[in-house]
Amino acid sequence: MKKLIIAILMMALPALGMAAGPSIPLLSANIDLDDKESLQRGAAIFIHNCLNCHSAHYMRYNRVSEDLGMAESEIKSMMFTTDNVGDTMVVALDPKEAKAWFGTLPPDLTVIERFRGADWLYTYFLSFYKDDSRPFGVNNLLFKDVGMPHAMLGMQGLADPIYRDETLPDGSIRKVVDSLSQPAGGAMSTADYEEAVRDLVGFMVYMGEPAKLVRYDLGWKVILFLIFLTFLLYLLKKEYWRDIH
Ligand code: HEC
Repeated sequence: MKKLIIAILMMALPALGMAAGPSIPLLSANIDLDDKESLQRGAAIFIHNCLNCHSAHYMRYNRVSEDLGMAESEIKSMMFTTDNVGDTMVVALDPKEAKAWFGTLPPDLTVIERFRGADWLYTYFLSFYKDDSRPFGVNNLLFKDVGMPHAMLGMQGLADPIYRDETLPDGSIRKVVDSLSQPAGGAMSTADYEEAVRDLVGFMVYMGEPAKLVRYDLGWKVILFLIFLTFLLYLLKKEYWRDIH
């Protein structure tokens, strides 16, 4: 038995190693899936800024409009990669060109939140900074040497890196990015950009598991039913015991 436990622990060890945390502490996304207006704004940001390069192959436009309480005409006015609301969110970009431009294919984003988590995504969109050595002039604190340009540069503007010295084992010193300056040149204030990113990530959480909205809505109805049932059973119990006494 002891050997078995040790064997299981040994098997789990590599997985623990892989789950080692990200390079910087994650910020908290604080998503509220009950806030339909936030999710609607997130859908608009996603469609306008991300579908140029990424697809969301498992999500249909009319499902989004239905789930988030948007008029079909509203979602239709945002669409540009197809004009059929029954279609899935296909990408505008030709995959061959994508490979040539970015060196890698922008991944499908339907369920990326299930893989990365909301806090990771929120932090990622707040971690772009100016780096002229990179092909698109930007780098990312959370995803080093990322192949993606800063898709929301116009909204956020660009932050400068603030460096600190790090001493290597051989005693030499190298500069590493410690933190980021206040972004400059964007259309939004920092607070508004953070809010927009929260909307976007909220939409990505919803997209990763649309049934969550239904479940949240169903949850309190089930609880109410259970309370009612308890009350009924209590009356029934009293009825039975009356005969026994
Ligand atoms: C100009 C093209 C382009 C646009 C626009 C773009 N991306 Fe990307 N994105 C990429 C590429 C290329 C990668 C792959 C980067 C890599 O692996 O180095 C990527 C990677 C990502 C990743 C990381 C995937 C992973 O490995 O976990 C996320 C998340 C992401 N994009 C989300 C978005 C969102 C959300 C938007 C819209 C706000 C967006 N992207 C807009 C090209 C783009």
